[in-house]
Amino acid sequence: MVILQNALNLRLFLNEKTTLIIMIKKEALLFAVIGYPIAHSLSPKMHNPALRELGINGRYMPMEIKPDNFEKVFSEIDKMPLRGFNVTVPFKERIIPFMQELSPEAKIIGAVNTVSISEKIKGYNTDADGFYRSLQEDLNFSAKGKKIVLLGAGGAARACIYALAEKGAAQISILNRTAAKAEALAAEFSVHFSASRITAHALKKDELETVIKDADLVVNTTSVGLKESDSLLVETALFELNRPAVYDLIYNPAQTKLLESAKKAGCKIANGKNMLLFQGAKALEIWTGKEAPVETMRQALFSE
Ligand code: ATR
Repeated sequence: MVILQNALNLRLFLNEKTTLIIMIKKEALLFAVIGYPIAHSLSPKMHNPALRELGINGRYMPMEIKPDNFEKVFSEIDKMPLRGFNVTVPFKERIIPFMQELSPEAKIIGAVNTVSISEKIKGYNTDADGFYRSLQEDLNFSAKGKKIVLLGAGGAARACIYALAEKGAAQISILNRTAAKAEALAAEFSVHFSASRITAHALKKDELETVIKDADLVVNTTSVGLKESDSLLVETALFELNRPAVYDLIYNPAQTKLLESAKKAGCKIANGKNMLLFQGAKALEIWTGKEAPVETMRQALFSE
């Protein structure tokens, strides 16, 4: 239960047994990250110092909603005492029917990670922006005219493909364990981005070899690498064919087997921690209209 001082007393029904009673000062702005599970989210750690730094009287808190209760809770979204919130796994797609408006990138990506509640309830996707800003900062990479190998065809892949195609990538080769999903994704994004050649492949060694040979960048959007027992997706010998830059969206562990393998081959590498930072910074800018204090957020996020 979250209780802030005096004035507004708002009730939020999370499920049959739990009522969240929030008392906030009338002028305080409330933000949240909504997901399941949510306890380990790093977002409050970077957003609360950022709100303080901007001089905003507000709080950012984790809100766990059980998947079974999601639709019930969000049918009352207009009564929620929130100025804005982030949405994470597993609700980024399920939140869409509750939006009154969608930003262009959220529409194409088909997922919302940031919601702003003002005159309208509007959904955005700041993952794409966060990913691209991290590519630029961490790998000094610009997508225009480049050839990219993208591993995975799930929700995270959609945000990355959007960012890369929107910035003018020449070729995006999508490789996925389930090849049919890569094919559907390639077909869908080719309609929106006809200037990029977007192709689909099975995630197999011979296919990898063909596309890595002339790739400028390899991006892992799969969940492979989260667990110590996970297999290695790309062997060092394959990276050595061309030494592309390698980006892994996974940041815990900080260096996955994939990044280790790429590093051994002499590739430039980066993990997704700054993607988390920059998607948060962009969300804060949407909510407040102010430039996000990125350095404060970075320090908070990277502190133990
Ligand atoms: P997210 O929203 O994080 O992208 P997702 O939509 O569940 O999560 O997608 C997970 C991605 O990781 C998919 O591309 C999935 O491949 P499939 O489409 O074949 O399921 C990929 N993935 C998960 N486990 C994998 C494994 N053991 N080997 C290869 N790919 C895997």
